[in-house]
Amino acid sequence: MGEYIINGGRQLSGEIVLSGAKNAALPLIAASLLTRGTVIHNCPRLSDTFVSVDILREMGCSCYFTQNVLICEPYGLNNYKISEELCSKMRSSVTFLGALLGRYGYAEIYHPGGCVLGSRPIDIHLDALKDMGVDIREEGNRVICRGKPHGANITLRYPSVGATENIILAATLAKGVTRLKNCAREPEIAELASFLNGAGAHISGAGEHEIVITGADSLDRCEHTLMCDRIEAGTYLCIAAATAGELFIKGLYPCMTEPVIQVLRNCGCIIKTGRDMIYIDAPPRLYGEIELITAPYPGLPTDMQAQLSAMLCLAKGESHIRETVFEARNRHIPELKKMGAEIECRNGCDFSIRGVNRLIGCEVSAPDLRGGAALITAALAAEGTSKIKNACYIRRGYENLSEKLRAVGAEIDYRESTTE
Ligand code: UD1
Repeated sequence: MGEYIINGGRQLSGEIVLSGAKNAALPLIAASLLTRGTVIHNCPRLSDTFVSVDILREMGCSCYFTQNVLICEPYGLNNYKISEELCSKMRSSVTFLGALLGRYGYAEIYHPGGCVLGSRPIDIHLDALKDMGVDIREEGNRVICRGKPHGANITLRYPSVGATENIILAATLAKGVTRLKNCAREPEIAELASFLNGAGAHISGAGEHEIVITGADSLDRCEHTLMCDRIEAGTYLCIAAATAGELFIKGLYPCMTEPVIQVLRNCGCIIKTGRDMIYIDAPPRLYGEIELITAPYPGLPTDMQAQLSAMLCLAKGESHIRETVFEARNRHIPELKKMGAEIECRNGCDFSIRGVNRLIGCEVSAPDLRGGAALITAALAAEGTSKIKNACYIRRGYENLSEKLRAVGAEIDYRESTTE
């Protein structure tokens, strides 16, 4: 499983260059199925992108990385089923559903199932596909979809990111016009639309409340440079704040992480922004006493809740966070408490955090990707040595994490686990 060993208490300073956005890469890789071939620059080399590549290979597509360039040539496609093993490795395998249906009018996947963040159903995806004329049968864990999607008027009951991506993918080559209301507005949605439009799709309104997709006859080849990762940026901002550090974070339009920047300013950090750069200078002690609520974009991202929780453990006064997107995104809380954090968790999603003067390094276990990033944040700020087990979760979302942090003065090492 691997583990990170961190000697905390170092004040970080220097420059961090962001990697490509994991959550934008995954739907683009699925979208490659609809094209005559794609070249994706700045694609992060992470376990989730590797699983996506394996899925495309399972379909018969030739797909390979050259450093951070991913090349997909969907010529030998001969399969429309994704194996249970690959579906279980990555929840976003569900995003291949829309692409497979657009390409073949048939798809079989396995329900990604529940995970540590809560039940995570895919009913919104499936209901929208039904509106597009797709016949869907669920046999236990297996989801069997038949029929080429056609244009439809769809209103999502919740602005699900994955469902919005799936419908865009299903509608791109569908006959007719699809109007998708109450869709997700995350920047990763606009990125997918821009990628597909670059290959000849007709998608407008991505990033707004209503997206209109006029089905194209076919898509061409396409070459695209992936946006940088706004959650990676937010994580390094929290790390700088928790360690009284000073960092230049490069590669992202700051507006994409505006709610996080606002929180950090309220905590007393000086933040300056340039076109694609964020500078943070954190005070020796953060101010807390703030109230945060996670929400779909442009609200405060749920993917930043755990890292902000870790940072607020060291901020003066009592702060409150309410998690509204996932019902059980709280498994980092008991791990933070092992390090001396004072947090009370009510109903699984309301946290009261009383800032302490110091956290103490110890052995903890990453419960999931962002929960793991919270433990990295806390361990870098803590006195003494921490061992963070289950590092594989963290490595799903942070490319070259220890190398990037060491370059700004952190003492962090990754090693294959000796204890598991
Ligand atoms: C994506 C991101 C994830 C982020 C999340 C919310 C990727 C690979 N993952 O996940 O990092 O935390 O957006 O910003 O891009 N829901 C249903 N039924 C559905 C679909 C969703 O009830 O059919 C619920 C979920 O259980 C959850 C909420 O809607 O409570 C948000 O889920 P969604 O926006 O779909 O998140 P993902 O696309 O899975």
